[in-house]
Amino acid sequence: MKIVTVDDYSEMSKFAAKIVASQVILKDNSVLGLATGDTPLQMYRELINLYNEEELDFSKITTFNLDEYYGISEDNPHSYHYYMKNNFFKFINIADSNINILDGKTKDIERECKAYDNKIAAAGGIDLQVLGIGVNGHIGFNEPDVNFEAETHLVKLDEKTVESNARFFASKEDVPTSALSMGIKTIMQSKKILLLASGPKKAEAVFKMLKEDVKRFV
Ligand code: GLP
Repeated sequence: MKIVTVDDYSEMSKFAAKIVASQVILKDNSVLGLATGDTPLQMYRELINLYNEEELDFSKITTFNLDEYYGISEDNPHSYHYYMKNNFFKFINIADSNINILDGKTKDIERECKAYDNKIAAAGGIDLQVLGIGVNGHIGFNEPDVNFEAETHLVKLDEKTVESNARFFASKEDVPTSALSMGIKTIMQSKKILLLASGPKKAEAVFKMLKEDVKRFV
């Protein structure tokens, strides 16, 4: 594990974009695991700039997003489908057929999750997974007490996560209380992981992640 500390959010975003860009340049058919939230927003903007400067070609890239709220549709502005389209995908030359995001409106959760894991495996696994971290240490939507052997599954969101994500919704009551998320096992099978954290709100989670024991609840 390599820990890189930089001066501010902007430097972090540029650094992260360089890592993703290197992956895309070195392997033009890479499989990228992507995250949402505020943290990777500028990284996406930097990647779009590199694309506009003709430094990057996403035409053979495949993506798998980490998670999606359960019970909301793709065109809901709070969905991660909407976020990805409007913050990244619509600005680059990725093929629609290469974009994978869990269906928050699925009627068959088990089947949707299994199919997602199978599709990741069939794509050869994730070459580079980008992650953020929640204020309580959640990864994707895996809350800190999660089963480490879990693959993609339905998650009941922690009260802290609902509170933290309420900033994106009109009120706390509007935040979905469950989500579909890659599990820790799925994430840990990635060949490389780039975890981004910025700002004082994340300091405690980062400290605990780096310095405290990893607890397993299996
Ligand atoms: C959400 C997402 C996570 C993300 C986290 C942190 O809950 N499901 O994937 O890492 O929030 O978000 P932010 O970067 O906005 O702090």
